Amino acid sequence: MTVFRQMDRVLLRLRPLYWSARGLIRSRTLAFFVCQRQAQLPTPDGTEIRLGGVGREDIATRLAVARGDDPREYCARLTAGHWVIYALGSDGDIQSWGWLTAPANVPQDSPWEFGIRMRVAPGSGFLWDYFTMPDYRGRGLYRILLQHSAEQCFLRGARRALGYADVSNTASSRGLANAQYLGQAEIHVKRFGPFCQISRHGFRQTVLVGGMVELDALLPHTV
Ligand SMILES: CC(C)(COP(=O)(O)OP(=O)(O)OC[C@H]1O[C@@H](n2cnc3c(N)ncnc32)[C@H](O)[C@@H]1OP(=O)(O)O)[C@@H](O)C(=O)NCCC(=O)NCCS
Repeated sequence: MTVFRQMDRVLLRLRPLYWSARGLIRSRTLAFFVCQRQAQLPTPDGTEIRLGGVGREDIATRLAVARGDDPREYCARLTAGHWVIYALGSDGDIQSWGWLTAPANVPQDSPWEFGIRMRVAPGSGFLWDYFTMPDYRGRGLYRILLQHSAEQCFLRGARRALGYADVSNTASSRGLANAQYLGQAEIHVKRFGPFCQISRHGFRQTVLVGGMVELDALLPHTV
């Protein structure tokens, strides 16, 4: 009896520890999609699709302000060689946008989940952080941008373009499917305090938050 009471006491003491440890665990399941080159690109009525790189810090700043993010971080994305693709209305409104990483010569790191960087090697294009302003949602702008984004990757020598969506994000997954991207794999990202475990069927890697995972290792061209 006393043994059970002592165990009860120990468990009671451990309970706060258990809950605070649980609070440090966060996980996401991401569906990755891949796109092959398409014969024809759609053009939206009254909206122009543009690509911005270094020198378009004005655009990066507008986008950061629109989302309440730090403009310096968005400008740094351009300096690091990433591209922003955006849908510009005839009234000058930026309606929808996203970022793409399509290195021609040397690998580039793009921001990914939980502070991890995704290393993209030449031969692949990687699309990330897409957003449509609430007033312009449901008009197919995301789908159109995804199609143009893939083409921009191919123009830079990529043989495939990859996008992803949280499995709970129906709008994003549908947009990718509507843009003729094919589902490729589900990736699980689980954070335990300062560590993240990244896994899919046949692959597992643990990295520190702020560390890096290679896209070609996570999803080889043959997967
Ligand atoms: C996801 C997002 C970019 C889609 O933008 P959008 O320009 O409205 O997308 P589209 O018009 O191309 O629509 C894509 C599909 O999602 C559907 N959809 C739009 N809003 C939806 C919602 N709230 N719930 C479910 N489906 C939705 C559309 O109906 C369409 O599918 P359908 O043509 O088969 O009906 C936009 O909702 C957004 O900015 N969300 C917040 C940020 C985000 O989640 N980004 C994606 C992760 S990178």
